[in-house]
Amino acid sequence: MVEKKLDFKELAETRRSVNFFDPTKPLSDELLKDIIDLAVLAPSAFNAQPWQVLAVKSKEKRQEVHDKACNQPKVLDAPVLLAILGDTTGFKRPNPIWDEKVRLGNASAADVENIVNFSENVLFPTELRQVAFAASNSSLLAMSIMYAAKYYGVEAHPMIGFDESKIKEIFNIPDHVIVTMLICLGYFDETKTLRPRETRFTYEKIVKSF
Ligand SMILES: Cc1cc2nc3c(=O)[nH]c(=O)nc-3n(C[C@H](O)[C@H](O)[C@H](O)COP(=O)(O)O)c2cc1C
Repeated sequence: MVEKKLDFKELAETRRSVNFFDPTKPLSDELLKDIIDLAVLAPSAFNAQPWQVLAVKSKEKRQEVHDKACNQPKVLDAPVLLAILGDTTGFKRPNPIWDEKVRLGNASAADVENIVNFSENVLFPTELRQVAFAASNSSLLAMSIMYAAKYYGVEAHPMIGFDESKIKEIFNIPDHVIVTMLICLGYFDETKTLRPRETRFTYEKIVKSF
């Protein structure tokens, strides 16, 4: 039977941060690959894609993360835990995207040199701006993963409740890379009930027109 896919409106309206995962339902590697392959179409500055994804499947590693992620039970219950990483240096060479721009004729070699220099000296000269670069881009990937998962019938839960330095130790993550968020992936535990969805700030509250 072909499962009906949600259109984007249904998908956005029904996506929830699913706090309870069924530990008996595994997530296949094929499905995880489908989710990631779709999600990487997310936009990024210069198409630099300054991100990496750690797919944590082993119980032992998830236990280690759980202990440094406020003991959140979903880290153990969900069959797959993703760590979304952002590279604060991702706009620099040797990122191969710069050469691709030249190869595709999207930019000249001189243009590329100018953009890289401008990025280093004007756009992202401080650590704060470099972290913003890594966090903003990798957060778009994270959201894209959560929507892609929902599209394929898989539930997700984002988390920022963790001790970043300890998570970096567990996975040997270098200093210039941030752990943007963790995402649990799997299937809802049907024996549980989600809390009601909280309201969102309205258009009138958040949009200022100029
Ligand atoms: C970046 C980010 C970090 C979050 N961190 C946590 C977390 O550590 N633990 C948790 O239970 N929920 C976490 N949440 C889930 C939010 O509480 C949830 O998305 C919000 O209440 C809205 O609910 P909904 O996603 O079901 O619409 C996080 C969400 C985001 C986007």
